[in-house]
Amino acid sequence: MRRSDPVVVEGLTKVYRGRSGEVVALNDVSFSVRGGEVFGVLGPNGAGKTTLSLIIAGLLEPTRGTAYVMGEDVRKLKRKVCEKYVALYLSGYMRLVQSFLRVPALKYLIMVGSIHWARGDLRRRAEEALKMVGLWEWRDEWPSRFSAGMKARLKLAELLLYDMPILVLDEPTVHMDPASCMEVWRVLKKVAREEGRTILLTTQNMEEAEYLCDRILFLNRGRVVAIATPHELRELVVKRERIVVALRRGDGGRLVEKLRDLPAVFHAEAREGGRLIVIEAAKDGVAPAELIDLAAKLGCEVRYLSYEKPSLSDVFRALVAGGAA
Ligand SMILES: Nc1ncnc2c1ncn2[C@@H]1O[C@H](COP(=O)(O)OP(=O)(O)OP(=O)(O)O)[C@@H](O)[C@H]1O
Ligand SMILES: [Mg+2]
Repeated sequence: MRRSDPVVVEGLTKVYRGRSGEVVALNDVSFSVRGGEVFGVLGPNGAGKTTLSLIIAGLLEPTRGTAYVMGEDVRKLKRKVCEKYVALYLSGYMRLVQSFLRVPALKYLIMVGSIHWARGDLRRRAEEALKMVGLWEWRDEWPSRFSAGMKARLKLAELLLYDMPILVLDEPTVHMDPASCMEVWRVLKKVAREEGRTILLTTQNMEEAEYLCDRILFLNRGRVVAIATPHELRELVVKRERIVVALRRGDGGRLVEKLRDLPAVFHAEAREGGRLIVIEAAKDGVAPAELIDLAAKLGCEVRYLSYEKPSLSDVFRALVAGGAA
């Protein structure tokens, strides 16, 4: 881990003290993001993604450990992180921000740009930014009349106005339809490749992570489960298979327990009242005969068996359910 990387996170822990006691939102998280890299943080609800984004942007204090942004400690910089280095996008707040605005979109961009002292020819930059996010034809419309996806894209356009070397985007495409997502992904890729900016984005969308990110960090319940490139993920997929077992009779729950003891099994669960069992296993790790024998020993009769190549989403589910793959 090099302090010279734009974002370096070291032993970061965040404990919230809420009404129902303490919540460890981040637990000893360490990683670093290289210059010009698109780095994805993937995780289910409550994984700690927003908490991580807020800490890196200097808006929330860590409990232990810290993050360095362009070599500076966020505990010291605090809110200045966002003035000096980071353009932050929080999907949850977008609708609030722009819902009351009654100025045309292009004028709005020029307005906010001038508040935040964006350098250069502001009008040209605002026009370019609107075109980049696919809102050019809406430039004369009020943002208050935009859909959630359009507001999100307008906010992204706003972030592009500033010369910040780092973009921290918390679930940027969460309200967007597939076509808008693709448009935004292209913009972000371009921003990283051509302008050399560093992007850290959080998402629950596996497809987004795979398309956009150079590396992906899996976060679950505040812990790092894996850091991998999309290529390594593909390898993971190739090395795995999904086995679906339908039972005619027997106790599927007991079979699942025994399956979990097999070294080749990463994850096993019973569905539909124990009649259907879904197994994530190493490729060729569990032979059909072995499965049928094991089931028979537990008094289960197998109706059918199928072996499938899992999708990346299955890998994600397996990672969050069972730890490292
Ligand atoms: N202000 C707070 N006070 C107490 N607990 C909090 C607070 N903010 C977040 N948490 C808790 O911290 C954990 C992580 O929350 P966080 O919002 O970072 O997750 P997330 O990965 O962004 O989830 P989501 O996908 O739903 O946006 C959750 O268990 C959440 O309940
Ligand atoms: Mg969140």
